[in-house]
Formats: sequence, structure tokens, C-alpha cells
Amino acid sequence: MKIAVSGKGGAGKSTVSAQLVRCFTFHQMPVFAVDADPDANLGLVLGLDPGKLENLRPLIDLQEVIAAKNAGGGTLVDLNPNVDDVLEKYTLQEGLLRFLKMGAIKQGGSACYCKENSFLNAILTTMLLDRSEAVVLDMSAGIEHLTRGTARGVELMLVVVEPTRAGVSTAKAVDRLSADLKIKKVLFIGNKIRSDEDRAYLEASLPAERFAGMIPFSDKILERARCGEPLVSTLEDIFPDLNKIYTMVCGR
Ligand SMILES: Nc1ncnc2c1ncn2[C@@H]1O[C@H](COP(=O)(O)OP(=O)(O)OP(=O)(O)O)[C@@H](O)[C@H]1O
Ligand SMILES: [Mg+2]
Repeated sequence: MKIAVSGKGGAGKSTVSAQLVRCFTFHQMPVFAVDADPDANLGLVLGLDPGKLENLRPLIDLQEVIAAKNAGGGTLVDLNPNVDDVLEKYTLQEGLLRFLKMGAIKQGGSACYCKENSFLNAILTTMLLDRSEAVVLDMSAGIEHLTRGTARGVELMLVVVEPTRAGVSTAKAVDRLSADLKIKKVLFIGNKIRSDEDRAYLEASLPAERFAGMIPFSDKILERARCGEPLVSTLEDIFPDLNKIYTMVCGR
């Protein structure tokens, strides 16, 4: 199962991503957890070792690997290089979980960065279209790492939305971008819900039938974030609606 998670800054993308990643590992399913937001902190939310996370190089910075993969010239997309070794070597492994950092897509003078960006594209193509492991992509609202090609592999785009105007406006923008990329299934998930009014506001602002669930505002989440504790330690830490999403996408 290949899932992308997007939404406004601070909406709860990393929280939702980490919960989904843990659904997979608790069910003994191998999963790639991908930090695809340059400003992301998915590794910490997952409770991975801070020192190891610090030392993990974002894939976009692997100049020597990018040069080697590109030895034949042309773009990496044309060459379709085998990057399985990169997914072994430059990921942080913990049991069935493999964590990796994409790094920011290089903008501006794009021709100069063509190799770097097409390297990331090759990695995403491999994870989303070739490999059998589940994938959870923690993305920025711009979903700029995805292209028409790689988006074919995304089975579910989950848009995290807080009950605010700004949150809804970003969710609509992500929905449009996802439609442009022809992503088949785009669902919303409400987060930080404190009241029936919050829930009603979201269901009135976005198509109600496209909500996959709602997550309550939780002091426990905030407390764990404050103490730097992993968000999920046991199955009981998974919110019921996230379990429902897992069951929906995995059929068990
Ligand atoms: N349901 C919730 N209840 C309470 N606090 C929450 C909830 N969901 C997320 N938070 C808190 O809100 C903050 C932002 O959440 P998170 O980091 O998951 O968002 P994000 O969308 O990944 O943010 P960024 O755009 O910075 O990557 C964090 O401090 C997190 O602990
Ligand atoms: Mg985040």
C-alpha cells in the first residue's frame, strides 16, 4: 500500500504519517517511512534515535552516488538506474521499518539540478511502483516531489486538515494538485478536533463523504511531542480512525 500524507504546515502530517507507519509495523508489514518535507520531523515523531537521524544524509545530497548512477550521461529517468542499493545503504532501519530523508527538490535553474531531481524521482519510482513494501510519504502541502509518473503509484493521498479557514483552503489546494497529477483516491482527515462544531465546520467546508476520519485534539500527543517521546509505543496509542484507514487500505 502506497500512501502520501499532505496538508498545511503544522496540520498534523507527521503525526498522521507516524501513526500509519506504526499500523504497518504492528501488523508485521515492511514499510518505508519517507520524510519528503524539507522541514519534516517524521523520524523524531517515530521515536528513532536522534543521533542516527542527525547523521542520516538526505538523498538529494548524495552527490557521489548521483554522479555514479549517472555515469552513462543523460538524465537518470532515461537511464532508469537501479537504486535498490541506495534504499539499503542510506536508510535507517529498525525492524521492518526503513526510514529515509528525501531532502528538498532543487528549485531555480532547474537544468543544473536535473540530475539531483531525477535521482529522487528514480528513488520514488522504485518505492512506489516497483517494490512490494508499503510506503508512507510525509509531504509538504506542495507535494512537489510527485510527478505524473510517480503519482501513478500513489494509491491514497491523505490530506490532513485542521478546522480553520487556512487549513481548509490548503486542503482544497492539495486536492487540486492531486487531481492534476491524476491521483486516484484523495481523502481528507480532520485533525485537532475539539468539538462537534469543529467537525461540522470541516464537513460543511469540504465534501463530507470524502472524510476518512477525524482525530480528536489530544493532550497526550502534545505532551509526547514536548518530551520528545515516540508518538506511538503500543497499539492502544493508534487513534481508532487511523486504524480504520489502515484496515480500509490493507483490507485487514
Ligand atoms: N490531534 C492532535 N492533538 C494535539 N496536538 C497535535 C495533534 N496532532 C498534531 N499535534 C501537534 O501539533 C504539532 C504539529 O503536528 P505535526 O508535526 O504532526 O504537523 P506537520 O503537519 O507534520 O507539521 P510541519 O508542517 O511542521 O511538518 C505538533 O506539536 C504535534 O504534536
Ligand atoms: Mg511534519
